[in-house]
Amino acid sequence: MDAPSIVIAPSILAADFARLADAARAVEGEADWLHVDVMDNHFVPNLTIGLPVVQSLRKATPIPFDVHLMIEDPERWAPGYAEAGAYNVTFHAEATDDPVALAKTLRAAGSKAGLAIDRDTDVTPYLDLLPHFDTLLVMTIKAGFGGQKFLPETLDKVRAVRRRIEAGHLEVRLEVDGGIAADTIEAAAEAGADAFVAGTAIYGAADPAEAIRKLRALGSA
Ligand code: DX5
Ligand code: ZN
Repeated sequence: MDAPSIVIAPSILAADFARLADAARAVEGEADWLHVDVMDNHFVPNLTIGLPVVQSLRKATPIPFDVHLMIEDPERWAPGYAEAGAYNVTFHAEATDDPVALAKTLRAAGSKAGLAIDRDTDVTPYLDLLPHFDTLLVMTIKAGFGGQKFLPETLDKVRAVRRRIEAGHLEVRLEVDGGIAADTIEAAAEAGADAFVAGTAIYGAADPAEAIRKLRALGSA
């Protein structure tokens, strides 16, 4: 039997923000998802892009959008990204008191629902919620900035989530985000991740499409 296919999601946080449509086109045919980091300068110190940019970019490429909301009050903002045509909308566990309710809202609005766990958050209390989600994103850095060093200690959380997905026969993508590159993707894959976000390793490369092919080969091994 073939190994189940993995997802590679280039993060446009590392692309040229004046040429986002070109950045999307540069990975068409290679990327599975386009990872879009929305930051509000409150949940994290950084500030990136919001709904109007996502709405415009949605019209510029057929690649499914993986929207990663690093924002406060996701109840207010997350459904708009689903309505804008995002394939998956992930919000942070630390930003909401009722993640299951928001997951239901997102699914009703037409997207998959994702839950993100930041570097300093224990995943254990969220394992029982996995059946309500389509993706579980484990941050392998502290959320907020691209170009940080991968933290191998976060892989214990990936292992715990993978065990629960298998025990429950759940259909949940297990995504890692932060410092994923040729020298770290294999460890993340071995721990059980099957979706990989990479910003610097893809858009910092001379040939982003070739960088994706290389990551895919390493992450699938
Ligand atoms: C950071 C973002 C990441 C970021 C990863 O908080 O969530 O998606 O783009 O960037 P790299 O791959 O450079 O670590
Ligand atoms: Zn991200």
